[in-house]
Amino acid sequence: MPKVLVIYYSRTGNTERMANAVAEGIRKVEGVEVEVKYHVDIAELANYDAIIVGTPTYHHNTVSEMKNLFENAVVKDVNLKGKIGAAFGSYGWSGEGPKLLLEIMENKFEMNVIKPPLLVKYAPDRAALEKCREFGKIIAEKLLQKDE
Ligand SMILES: Cc1cc2nc3c(=O)[nH]c(=O)nc-3n(C[C@H](O)[C@H](O)[C@H](O)COP(=O)(O)O)c2cc1C
Repeated sequence: MPKVLVIYYSRTGNTERMANAVAEGIRKVEGVEVEVKYHVDIAELANYDAIIVGTPTYHHNTVSEMKNLFENAVVKDVNLKGKIGAAFGSYGWSGEGPKLLLEIMENKFEMNVIKPPLLVKYAPDRAALEKCREFGKIIAEKLLQKDE
């Protein structure tokens, strides 16, 4: 069964709420497994067919936890080529974080990325959480199509 990883970082809980809603959306699709993690060992990344990263934007950037994850993956030569990649996150006014990670996933790791990233301003409200679920569902469906 194809496996999806939702890996996120969140300081005040907004991106975390998004991550849980994205996972709920994935769970709606039968035949796809999902794990939500705050921390992952680099070697584990290769076990997933799709990797969805959640990052807030701080100081016009993603956070060091997420940058380190991908930098370590480069150092350890982890092969993510062709896997589905997507990004999301809460932001306040500029929202560079998810865009930066998606660029790394596309250009460095040659992942099959889903654009654009899903951005939610500050705390996700009911409508924003529904968008997160829909985002997760679309990714899971894309993964199943890829498997056919
Ligand atoms: C010190 C600080 C710096 C921030 N810098 C940015 C920024 O450069 N661009 C932006 O869009 N939002 C910025 N924000 C807003 C956060 O992205 C926003 O509060 C977001 O909801 C935090 O998500 P989290 O709860 O998942 O940590 C900043 C917030 C703080 C407290």
